[in-house]
Amino acid sequence: MRVAARIPFWVVVLLSLPLTAAFRDSTADEALDTVTQLKPNVSHGRDLFDTCAACHGNTGAGVSDGTVPAIAGQHFRVIVAAIIDFRNDNRLDPRMKHFTDEHHLSVAQDIADVATYVSRLAYNHVQLLERLQPSDIVGVSDYLSRLGP
Ligand code: HEC
Repeated sequence: MRVAARIPFWVVVLLSLPLTAAFRDSTADEALDTVTQLKPNVSHGRDLFDTCAACHGNTGAGVSDGTVPAIAGQHFRVIVAAIIDFRNDNRLDPRMKHFTDEHHLSVAQDIADVATYVSRLAYNHVQLLERLQPSDIVGVSDYLSRLGP
């Protein structure tokens, strides 16, 4: 009893930190396992994507100034992991936190559906090319010419 009373509070806090981290990670891992094991409904995913399109664009290409990232064609598992991280505050962005919360994506099935739809969106090469600056094109052709035949 005396020994316990002499352990400073900050030591207790420090010792419990790794435990908290492990707990958070395993919760996120469990959620990831649950979602990735579901059979997705892509047409329901397309309906849910309407909300996402407001920021990420109809093609999922994001905004060219980089304020909203391109998500089209991203791997299913990566999208699911990102959504779970935003929901659980493991990754912080108030917009994503709001639009991936339980009011917008109510159940694990919703996450599987919308993530599948996004992962199947064709990556928009035209928009990608439009973002290239003349200096990028010079750089790329210089690189390619050095690769040889
Ligand atoms: C209000 C605007 C907004 C809405 C609506 C929105 N997002 Fe996002 N999303 C963002 C922003 C901004 C980021 C970048 C956050 C950051 O800084 O990490 C982001 C990041 C992401 C990422 C991580 C991309 C990466 O490469 O790191 C994914 C995946 C994503 N959003 C999917 C979705 C899905 C799916 C929906 C719909 C359910 C959605 N978003 C709705 C604004 C939005």
